[in-house]
Amino acid sequence: MVRAIHDDAPTAGTFVDTMVEESEAIVRAEAAAGTMRPSSDPRALAVLNILIGLAVLTMPPPLARALGSERFGPDVLANLDADGRAVHATDLHRRHAYADRYGLVDCCASVTTEGELTHMGITLPNLTPAQQSVFITLGSRAIDSRLSHPFLGDAMADEVIRKTGYDVADLPKFGAMSKVFDPRTLIFDVAVRAKKLDEVVQRFISHHPDAVVLDLGVGLDTRIFRVNPPSTAGWYGIDFPEVIDLRQQVVPQRTDVHSISADLTEPHWLDDLPSDRPAVIVADGLVPFLPQDGFVSMLNHLVDHFPSGELAFNAYTTFAVKAAKGYLGAGSAADGMVNPGFDDPHAPEQWAPGLTLIEEIFLTRVPENAGQTLPMRLWSRLAARSTALSRRGTVVFRYRF
Ligand SMILES: C[S@@+](CC[C@H](N)C(=O)[O-])C[C@H]1O[C@@H](n2cnc3c(N)ncnc32)[C@H](O)[C@@H]1O
Repeated sequence: MVRAIHDDAPTAGTFVDTMVEESEAIVRAEAAAGTMRPSSDPRALAVLNILIGLAVLTMPPPLARALGSERFGPDVLANLDADGRAVHATDLHRRHAYADRYGLVDCCASVTTEGELTHMGITLPNLTPAQQSVFITLGSRAIDSRLSHPFLGDAMADEVIRKTGYDVADLPKFGAMSKVFDPRTLIFDVAVRAKKLDEVVQRFISHHPDAVVLDLGVGLDTRIFRVNPPSTAGWYGIDFPEVIDLRQQVVPQRTDVHSISADLTEPHWLDDLPSDRPAVIVADGLVPFLPQDGFVSMLNHLVDHFPSGELAFNAYTTFAVKAAKGYLGAGSAADGMVNPGFDDPHAPEQWAPGLTLIEEIFLTRVPENAGQTLPMRLWSRLAARSTALSRRGTVVFRYRF
């Protein structure tokens, strides 16, 4: 697409025309609804929005050089805020400002020994890159809960991250990038995919109140409180021992939850779980951290263990894995991303016979997009028309077995 725009190809013309038409329609609708300042020239405003959106796609090298860097990355974004000017590029025309990182973060942690943080009597263990990724997802849901109109609204996520003393501004996403992007743009995917996975669990339990629920790679997630299952269901959260230990210190405990300390790629953690009840199995943010052979053997063990059920997880395409590694950078959770990702949602059916794909939940097509920023609403409306484009964004795959 970047090359097509550069060459002024007909496909680029259609793309830009569609974006402008849709943008203008939204600008007019929002002005009529009173959610956006009316413009004397809605078409020009639509073109300006598209210009800003496409500049990031088409001009990063010259833009970066203009700010004294060779490539466009977090350092360039930080430069944009060099003397305290917050650049709200995506929300130039909306009436309300949003909280920046200083409004979002008020945790106070203190460093004790190298790499260990203590806060309110809790010592954060030294975590591997894969284990550190818990803060990306928990931090996103915490920030979501602080929005005036959250997508997920999980206030407990905020309480939990405050208890750990972890400063979300330390995450690549919420440091420099929070100066440029509206927080809704940064947390939408994590908050909404969690909501979709919650809905999968809720729907399954409503049909099978005796279901076994597995949250694979549970981290510090508070899904059980969001779903609030009946006591007839059996709920299991599985993660590495270091993460389960931390979880027990910072996540409120419920007597009807079982925590299992295990490496999911090992076979025996399933041995003591009921094998005569239907299961609903979710994995939020887990897949990129599993080696491919471990992922495949885990799928087979799950399908073999339970008589029937559903499995749902947010998928990572090969492109998504590369993109995530790129923006997280070396020395971060990216170092733990060992799975190459996969592009065909039917691939797990081959890896674990018994699985059947029953739904792809494209985040471009969910109603929660109405709460997104204008450029992101435009992008998702456009991408929603194409399955191929939608698959490049966040997708939750749902399988039956
Ligand atoms: C991105 S975090 C997501 C955590 C949680 N699901 C959430 O949404 O906040 C990925 C989680 O997967 C866990 N994980 C990765 N590989 C694992 C494995 N082989 N066995 C158990 N847990 C694993 C990590 O420790 C981490 O808690």
